[in-house]
Amino acid sequence: MYMSDRGHPVVARLYDPVMALPERTVLVDYREFLVSGLSGRVLDLGAGTGALFPYFDRLEAPDLHVTAVEPDPNMRARARKRASGLDVDIDVVDADGEALLYDDGAFDAVVTSFVFCTIPDHERAFDEVARVLKDGGEFRFLEHVRGDGIAGRTHDVLAPCWHAVAGGCNLNRRTHRLFLEDDRFRTQEYEQQQGLTSKLLPVVRGRLTRKRRPLLTRLRQTLT
Ligand SMILES: C[S@@+](CC[C@H](N)C(=O)[O-])C[C@H]1O[C@@H](n2cnc3c(N)ncnc32)[C@H](O)[C@@H]1O
Repeated sequence: MYMSDRGHPVVARLYDPVMALPERTVLVDYREFLVSGLSGRVLDLGAGTGALFPYFDRLEAPDLHVTAVEPDPNMRARARKRASGLDVDIDVVDADGEALLYDDGAFDAVVTSFVFCTIPDHERAFDEVARVLKDGGEFRFLEHVRGDGIAGRTHDVLAPCWHAVAGGCNLNRRTHRLFLEDDRFRTQEYEQQQGLTSKLLPVVRGRLTRKRRPLLTRLRQTLT
């Protein structure tokens, strides 16, 4: 079984207090974008303390079932507590994004927020996203990425320290390229936040759809 670096108790304890102000202000619109109109089987990959859960709760989607994957036991405990206070069907599951225990095409949508910066093998995890999404299913993301020019070079210098203190987060990944250049997906929406803060730490959001798998792959899936 794939095992990522599990357990950052201090980060888990500080996460919600540190994020409280952005969660009440700039992140509201982004989080609404991530969940808007979703229904059916949704995977919240790297759910953390469950910041998206209240947003799922507000959706009017009786058939919504959320699978929230979170490998860090400290984060997961907080996520479970948050889910228990809400009226929405959420399973909080211990797993790594690099090795998901779900069938091909198991989900109608996959959402991630500030996760691909932290997943140790983010390319492998993106392969898993492509695998577990059904044809036509949506992948929605919100991520911070490496900056350009001097900001990017500063990210490169700070990256090792940041990785050590910020729960394994990588400051200088170009995650957007990984997503946008993948042939298995079609880009529906992509946006980089504008303004000074985005120059210092670019934040990107997007919506991709899973392209139809080749006929042979679909036949093999039907037969197994
Ligand atoms: C910065 S937090 C974001 C949490 C949440 N998505 C949010 O928006 O607040 C990154 C999360 O990714 C999780 N993570 C780390 N490695 C992972 C992996 N291999 N697979 C899935 N999630 C992982 C961490 O445990 C952490 O909870």
